Amino acid sequence: NQGVAPVTYGQGDRPPRGDYARARADYTCEQDWAAYTAQDHELYRRLYERQAAQLPGLACTEFIEAVQHLGTPQRIPRFDELSDRLYRSTRWEVVAVPGLIPEEAFFKLLSERRFPVTGWIRKPEEFDYVVEPDVFHDLFGHVPLLFNPVFADYMQAYGAGGLKASRLDACELLARLYWYTVEFGLIRTPDGVRAYGAGILSSAGELRYSVRSPEPSRVPFDLTRIMRTRYKIDTYQASYFVIDSFQQLFDATAPDFTPLYAAVRAQEEIDAGRVLPHEERIPPAA
Ligand code: PHE
Ligand code: FE
Repeated sequence: NQGVAPVTYGQGDRPPRGDYARARADYTCEQDWAAYTAQDHELYRRLYERQAAQLPGLACTEFIEAVQHLGTPQRIPRFDELSDRLYRSTRWEVVAVPGLIPEEAFFKLLSERRFPVTGWIRKPEEFDYVVEPDVFHDLFGHVPLLFNPVFADYMQAYGAGGLKASRLDACELLARLYWYTVEFGLIRTPDGVRAYGAGILSSAGELRYSVRSPEPSRVPFDLTRIMRTRYKIDTYQASYFVIDSFQQLFDATAPDFTPLYAAVRAQEEIDAGRVLPHEERIPPAA
């Protein structure tokens, strides 16, 4: 599990990890690539190697094909070089940020097709689990699918939708959509379910668990249902939502959410792990 709400600034009382003194007003900063140590690059290499080895049979093909665009598996990529490739592909860029940023700043960057990537990397003792997203989670988990045209457009639409949700006081509902798609989404393929969510794809253990374990519930993607569903931030997910295609995700989220937020607020919340009577249970992959 990636263990952090993506739009949460800091963890409870603790300030977020990272050097915010260097950040601009929009929270972006320089990557300062020269400041990474040999140990930092070595840790990135080991993380990359462990995750890349698990992708076949667990990650969706769109992700597997795109992951090579990250370049340099043996050291932390230079964001400006990666941005050049990404921009040529889908007109997205990656920008460095000190760490978690306030949700409005996050939404604004996404709406401008700029994906914020944390500069720091975890410590060696955090190899298996890190509480806040680091450069490995942000790059390896999120950036490959930004090379996919439909997913890239979805992320921009999400950013614009986030700015709107802030005005409607609906960020909590919208965050569940991010959580259950961008972070922990599964997709149906002819060979069974596969992962496309960044929280899964950057996790040592949840990748296999989310796709193969008989334990969690997997149900079809349903926008309002997702907005009603709580989520776990410190364990593997109890529920996963399965899309049929990125186009389905884009189309289903295109309508105005204003009436939807009102409707969802009037309904009861649903605990993670529950399957509703009418819902299809999607089996784990073999
Ligand atoms: N269509 C949403 C709205 O009007 C915006 C959105 C798009 C949100 C895609 C999330 C994902 O609020
Ligand atoms: Fe993330």
